[in-house]
Amino acid sequence: MTVDAVTVGLGDRSYQVLVGPDLLSDAAARIAPFAPARRLFVISDHNVLRAHGAKFLGGLRQSGFAVHELALDPGEASKSFAGLERVCGALLDGRIERGDLVVAFGGGVIGDLAGFAAGVVKRGVDFVQIPTTLLAQVDSSVGGKTAINAAQGKNLIGLFHQPRLVLADTNVLSTLPRRELLAGFAEVVKYGLLGDAAFFDWLDAHAEAVLAGPGPERTYSIVKSVAAKAAIVAQDEREGGIRALLNLGHTFGHALEAETGFGERLLHGEGVAIGMALAFQFSERLGTCPRGTAERIAAFFRRVGLPASPRDIPGFTPSAETMLDHMEHDKKAQGGQLTLILARGIGHAFVQRNADRAAILDLWRAAL
Ligand SMILES: NC(=O)c1ccc[n+]([C@@H]2O[C@H](COP(=O)([O-])OP(=O)(O)OC[C@H]3O[C@@H](n4cnc5c(N)ncnc54)[C@H](O)[C@@H]3O)[C@@H](O)[C@H]2O)c1
Ligand SMILES: [Zn+2]
Repeated sequence: MTVDAVTVGLGDRSYQVLVGPDLLSDAAARIAPFAPARRLFVISDHNVLRAHGAKFLGGLRQSGFAVHELALDPGEASKSFAGLERVCGALLDGRIERGDLVVAFGGGVIGDLAGFAAGVVKRGVDFVQIPTTLLAQVDSSVGGKTAINAAQGKNLIGLFHQPRLVLADTNVLSTLPRRELLAGFAEVVKYGLLGDAAFFDWLDAHAEAVLAGPGPERTYSIVKSVAAKAAIVAQDEREGGIRALLNLGHTFGHALEAETGFGERLLHGEGVAIGMALAFQFSERLGTCPRGTAERIAAFFRRVGLPASPRDIPGFTPSAETMLDHMEHDKKAQGGQLTLILARGIGHAFVQRNADRAAILDLWRAAL
């Protein structure tokens, strides 16, 4: 079995992201160095445990670990104060101590919640990420951002807490609904669009193989994505500068998610796909990016089964003003300026501060 490794270089908080098929089988041996007391607190959700719990937890117990497990309800609603209370309660009931390890076994919801709980319980215990969605493998499990949601907005309560290890098993994605797989794929494409034109070209040629199942193409796409994120995080752990490039497509995308209610109607990755197409359209309008680039990207998204325009969202008819309002809502959080990630071409994203309100309104008018 070949296993690829990417190092996230953060000094004494550095860690490895391992990517490959069937990493769950020998997860116990890989986790062992980080759990000297041989006690694990596995936080997961019901969907993940139904699909992969027996194999994963059975393997850990067979290897002699004492395993506490907590299964939360699937979905964003678990990333709440109530969810945090449940996780912290379970850790304290099990008398977690230094030398024990929290294991986040699930998608981004579980990773963000379990990571946050690990960061605050007893002022911080170690944790590892075993991401089970494509989005979590290429994005949320790497970089140390953890959070829950507040009534005032998503991810507003949290902290930076880096994992000790990330195990991305490419086989576990076989049970993921196709729509979730595609939503995660949008974040893979993001790394090509923001900083690596050759990777985008490769994805254009190999997308179907990446999405078909575990295989060398899928592994390669995850390794490239993680390496891209690791390089950015290593330079800018706390998002003072270039980490912002990872938000390509996200300000437009969040506006779409807000208008569709942050739910089933539009998954995060779907909003990001449309948002990236819009960011490139906007860049073309401003003259920073060659004509035809946005159309190439949109055609690629549609080919693989992702939406590429607000018009691809069924029954979606808001006004341009409403969409700008959603974006301005982000602006308030950023000190009165609307910051966007724009592009000079595929693979060349940049941060645009003080983006022009009237021009954005025109873009929405044309796109809706
Ligand atoms: N920390 C970060 O840097 C960061 C980055 C991006 C996103 N996020 C967060 O990630 C979250 C979204 O993550 P997500 O897209 O993984 O969603 P998720 O965790 O809700 O998982 C999506 C769905 O897939 C199910 N699932 C997970 N793995 C499965 C598997 N292998 N087989 C079958 N079903 C499976 C889950 O139960 C859930 O129903 C959001 O809360 C977002 O804020 C965080
Ligand atoms: Zn995202």
